[in-house]
Amino acid sequence: MKKVLKIAGTLFGALVLLVLCLAAWISFSPPPEYESRSIPVSIPTDSAALALGQKIVQTECVLCHMGADGKLSGRQFTKADNPFGEIWAANITGHPEKGIGRYSDGELAYLFRTGVKKDGGFAPFMMVPNISDEHLGALIAYLRSDAPLVQASESAPPAPKYGFLAKALMKFGVFAPKLQEIRPIEAPDPGDQVAYGKYLSTAVFSCFECHSKSFETNDDYVPENSEGYFGGGNSIEDGSFDIVHSANITMSKAFGIGKWQQADFVRAVQTGQDPDNRILNPVMPRYAALSDTEISAIWAYLQTVPVLENQVQRIAKQ
Ligand code: HEC
Ligand code: HEC
Repeated sequence: MKKVLKIAGTLFGALVLLVLCLAAWISFSPPPEYESRSIPVSIPTDSAALALGQKIVQTECVLCHMGADGKLSGRQFTKADNPFGEIWAANITGHPEKGIGRYSDGELAYLFRTGVKKDGGFAPFMMVPNISDEHLGALIAYLRSDAPLVQASESAPPAPKYGFLAKALMKFGVFAPKLQEIRPIEAPDPGDQVAYGKYLSTAVFSCFECHSKSFETNDDYVPENSEGYFGGGNSIEDGSFDIVHSANITMSKAFGIGKWQQADFVRAVQTGQDPDNRILNPVMPRYAALSDTEISAIWAYLQTVPVLENQVQRIAKQ
């Protein structure tokens, strides 16, 4: 009996030691590094392309990168007690050292496709891997323009201090770039509403990122493989770092938006007012720049997304 206990004790001790070593490795060894590359990208110069780039930047990139100086000079968007850590979004104005002036167009394109930064670090919250080549070119053209939003700012936000969860996911390769997947990408024809709506809500604008179960289990490459796809419940920090849960926007009549009309949807997405004239929490961006046609395409796509009967407790202040 004593012997058995002794063996069990030793095994348990060994297990504890192993777990401690693993935890120490996750916490203290440097994060994985990747090689930054430059990939071919064609940068348009016409005004229609610049307007397209502006639309993407003003609706999408501002969510995380809008600084106190009114430029895309970076801001803190999670605090240290967030499981992903204390995360600051970078200065992405044209500043030659503090902003993206230090990137070539090709290096920027590589970052947007893979999340690999020029310094070799991986930025897990910063990828648009399925955006079309045309939209990617337009996006970079706008970032390089002299628009007030991207004019050089001196601001230098601290590098993100990733928490245990983010570090573990990076070290075990869950949050990792897929380096082999660079291929030409074309956007679907806007006439194909369902396909175009899917493209807009998953590849260009991050609807699915916020509206699925959790950032942790989102699949940026194959969005429909994300857990709880469009079923809501993801925890997002608002401007005062309180947690807000995203809505279920599948067509569930009980818990989603299955009873809404298309016009209700268009209005809610553009103005932030639901059919009962309730004002949505500001964490839900106001997509005033999206046209009725674009939002209707997203609506058409949502009709095809599997319904999830997931009841979300909408506003949970902590
Ligand atoms: C969900 C929040 C989020 C969104 C949305 C977002 N970013 Fe980022 N971005 C970040 C974070 C966080 C970092 C810093 C990551 C790091 O340093 O590891 C970053 C880093 C970057 C960098 C690298 C800067 C550097 O110094 O290496 C660029 C460029 C960039 N973002 C551009 C964009 C553009 C363009 C958009 C819009 C298409 C965008 N981001 C949307 C969070 C976001
Ligand atoms: C930054 C995270 C975020 C992004 C990106 C986002 N949403 Fe939301 N959305 C939310 C949150 C959080 C709510 C819940 C707000 C509330 O409870 O007041 C919400 C609510 C909604 C609602 C209202 C649902 C209801 O039942 O009242 C609709 C519709 C919606 N979002 C559609 C979209 C679409 C379409 C997109 C992309 C174009 C999108 N959202 C992008 C976070 C986000």
